[in-house]
Amino acid sequence: MKYTYLLTALTSLLCISNSLIAQTFIPIETKDHAIVLQADKNNYLSMVYCGDRINEVKDYGAIAGMFKFSTDNAGSYNNAYTPAGTWSLSEPAIQVTHSDGNPSTDLKYVNYEATALDDNTSLTTIHLQDPLYKLAVNLFYKTWKNENVIEQWSEIVNNEKGPVVMQKYASANLFFSEKDFYLTSYQGEYLTEMQPQEEKLLQGNRVIESKLGTRAMLLGTPNFMVSFGKPADENSGKVLLGQLAWSGNYKLDFEIDSYKNLRLIAGINPYASAYTLAAGKSFKTPSLIYTISDNGTGRASRQLQSWARKYQVLDGEGERLTLLNNWEATYFNFNEQKLAALFKDAKNLGVDMFLLDDGWFGNKYPRNGDNAGLGDWQENEKKLPNGIGYLVKAAKDSGVKFGIWIEPEMVNPKSELYEKHLDWVIRQPERPEKYYRNQLVLDLTNPEVQDHVFGVVDNLFTKNPELAFIKWDCNAVIYNAYSAYLEKNKIPQTHLYVEYVNGLYKVLQRIRAKYPKAPMMLCSGGGGRGDYEILKYFTEFWPSDDTEPIERIFQQWNYSYFFPSITTDCHVTDWGKQPIKFRTDVASMGKLGFDIVASKLSENDLAYCKLAVKNYNGFKDIVWHGDQYRLASPYENPFASFMYVDKNKSNAIMFTYMHNTRVNEASERPVKLNGLDEDKKYAVKEINLYPGTRTTIDESKIYSGAFLMNVGINPDVNSRRTSVVLQVTESK
Ligand code: DGJ
Repeated sequence: MKYTYLLTALTSLLCISNSLIAQTFIPIETKDHAIVLQADKNNYLSMVYCGDRINEVKDYGAIAGMFKFSTDNAGSYNNAYTPAGTWSLSEPAIQVTHSDGNPSTDLKYVNYEATALDDNTSLTTIHLQDPLYKLAVNLFYKTWKNENVIEQWSEIVNNEKGPVVMQKYASANLFFSEKDFYLTSYQGEYLTEMQPQEEKLLQGNRVIESKLGTRAMLLGTPNFMVSFGKPADENSGKVLLGQLAWSGNYKLDFEIDSYKNLRLIAGINPYASAYTLAAGKSFKTPSLIYTISDNGTGRASRQLQSWARKYQVLDGEGERLTLLNNWEATYFNFNEQKLAALFKDAKNLGVDMFLLDDGWFGNKYPRNGDNAGLGDWQENEKKLPNGIGYLVKAAKDSGVKFGIWIEPEMVNPKSELYEKHLDWVIRQPERPEKYYRNQLVLDLTNPEVQDHVFGVVDNLFTKNPELAFIKWDCNAVIYNAYSAYLEKNKIPQTHLYVEYVNGLYKVLQRIRAKYPKAPMMLCSGGGGRGDYEILKYFTEFWPSDDTEPIERIFQQWNYSYFFPSITTDCHVTDWGKQPIKFRTDVASMGKLGFDIVASKLSENDLAYCKLAVKNYNGFKDIVWHGDQYRLASPYENPFASFMYVDKNKSNAIMFTYMHNTRVNEASERPVKLNGLDEDKKYAVKEINLYPGTRTTIDESKIYSGAFLMNVGINPDVNSRRTSVVLQVTESK
């Protein structure tokens, strides 16, 4: 059922009576939570509440009156979209130079509409207007009731006679009036992505941002967690988990004001990105996506994971292909014979697909290392004389599907593409080139480059209709930001960072219009790309090149706050010293793949891998589509424990790893399970046993859900059993 509140009529009334306007409050509610905005007697719109939903809707109107922040500037702290240049002294959400050069903006509330889009989703649109200039801002709040998720974005509309220059144009501006906020942000580098850093926010502005250009994640990420009143906890307390869904430069401002309130402003990074908006045009910002939980981070991440699977990630509730990748098995050194042997390995392991990685292309400049050939997407005739079509068929004859690696946004200076199309390359023509992994970035603001990138994918699928999968890599950041295309078309260079990302989305939209479902994996020299906007076009992403399994336990733990396991590609490799069982069990908590030479494994190791793939096929539905519970944190224990439960609470799978063998406290206590039905009875069985080993778990016992959740079960991890996988099955 559709309904619309159009409050324009009420607004005109409000202009007559200032006392009435104080009653204009706008609740934006999910199943359990609400944020509330309110217009004051001067038509300034503020955010007055973020908390549990209050059943008596009219009570929201009394909230603002309970706060007495009295200093001169205090009235602007909770502005719903803080303008710059008038009376706010805080970090702005919007900063504009008007067509006449005036740098000041003021925004007044006009009206709002709330529309139910379906049983679960609603959209509230609030209209703001500068009283002096014909500049309007529309604020959008889309809610997913059952998942307690809110998506917020803005639209800036230039109705002035000439162009305006937007210096800052945030997606969202939130305000929280509790005291004591703890921010967890995720920092890192290549191989150490997604390291959490929790800090108490103090007065001033804490900025989390990226200037990488081509991608959001690497040195930092657009994912964050705000915990209210105390540090974040898995099962208690109010927390907000959020992400700016934008695949380029982002900026998150966490500003504590003089009253200890928190203002959060999230959006495209204004760094070098002043954006000229022509008369009559509007600009839609990316979305800030967040969920609120008053039961800690566990519930928050289950809400976000469930939302992502159902509504955001491409085919988020679908299936995925297990695979054998040749990157670490061969690097650039392969030929048809070697690959044919790997197809057989893939079949023998029992995975669905073989994935051919980097190195298959380039003739004038063969791709035999990372310093040449990138951009020349023709099969290398020496390595692959019979082309990709032959490989797709040979893989099929061996009983597996075939997938392929590309990095279509990039170019090596040693390539025919670079020689032919220097003007397609992002570079400062007068300065020496600076490379990241020996490569440069193509200028996706240029429609010809968009055609080229689309063409790389389109050619592969057109020539090889049975191609099953694409791994889309993106290894370089933007150095020497300068676009020949923008220059030629008299578009300001400060549009480059924004239009690069828009160009990428345009290409992806074309790909999905033609190939709606083909599975594609995002990769970015490690965990550089995996935000929710780009995941509309991709089925999964690569969290990190670091596949050492103990590091992976921590990384997968951290990614899981924001992403469901079905999106997280985890490969078994030769990294580290852990046995194959440990490595395979850790990878089984995401989308399982292998990147090893299976034929070189010992007989038992190979037998173990085959068993693990078979078992994975039995429980992958729970890992991919079930609810995840983080039972024991590797940061607080010498072990870590994760659990996945199906929707009926009938089947669960629990993974426990000992990551620190210095102390022997791993098996002292039981681990409490979660998410089961306390009245159901369950059997517990250990699976993924290495050949020749026996379980130490008593599998004859039947436990109540209440027992398993209040007392727990002891997986008995110790230095001889460093990885234990338990299957929990309802016993009827
Ligand atoms: C970086 C990726 O993370 C690796 O998995 C591999 O695909 C290489 N690129 C290939 O160049």
